[in-house]
Amino acid sequence: MNVFDAIKLRRSIRRYKPKEVEKEKLMRVIEAGRLAPSATNSQPWHFIIVKNPEIKRKLGESYPRDWFINAPVIIVACADPGKAWVRGDGEEYWKVDVAIALQNMILCAIEEGLGTCWIANFNEKIVKDVLGIPQNIRVVAMTPLGYPDEVKEEVRDRKPLEEILHFEHW
Ligand SMILES: Cc1cc2nc3c(=O)[nH]c(=O)nc-3n(C[C@H](O)[C@H](O)[C@H](O)COP(=O)(O)O)c2cc1C
Repeated sequence: MNVFDAIKLRRSIRRYKPKEVEKEKLMRVIEAGRLAPSATNSQPWHFIIVKNPEIKRKLGESYPRDWFINAPVIIVACADPGKAWVRGDGEEYWKVDVAIALQNMILCAIEEGLGTCWIANFNEKIVKDVLGIPQNIRVVAMTPLGYPDEVKEEVRDRKPLEEILHFEHW
C-alpha cells in the first residue's frame, strides 16, 4: 500500500473487534512512531501500550466511552517538554513532535489492517494518575488500536482547496 492510499483510507474507528492485535503488528506500528522526525531530533516522546482490561477500565475514566476501553490496545502518546526544542521566541514544539510520531503510527496501522482514532478529549490528570506518569510529562493524545468492526468510506468531508490553499501570499 502506498502512503497516499493509507492517508485516504484512514478514518476514525469507534468500533473494534475483540480480536487481539499480533505483537509483530503492534511493534511495527510503534516503530513507525519511533522513526518520526522531531525538531533538533530531540525525540521528546514516550509511548505507553495498555492492553490489560483492568487498566483499560481505569483509563476509561479519563474518556468514558465503551468503544474506547473495548479496543484490544490503547496507545498513550506522551511528551517530555523538558527534552523538546523551544524556538527563540519561546514557542514550544513538543506537541508537534509527538503528534507527528502518533500520526506515523496511525498511518502504519492502516497498512496492517488496523483501525485507530485520535483521542484528545480526555482528562489528563486521570490518565497520569492511572498510568503513573511523572509530573513533568504531558499526555498529548491517545488512540485505541484494533481490528475495525465498522466499515467507513475513504476520507471525503474536507474543505475544498480554494478555501485553504494560497499562492505566493495569503
Ligand atoms: C487532535 C485530534 C483530536 C481528536 N480527538 C478526538 C476525541 O477526543 N474523540 C473522538 O471521538 N475523536 C477525536 N478526533 C477524531 C476527529 O473527530 C476526526 O478525525 C475528524 O472528525 C475527521 O474524521 P476522520 O478521522 O474519520 O477522517 C480527534 C482528531 C484529532 C486530529
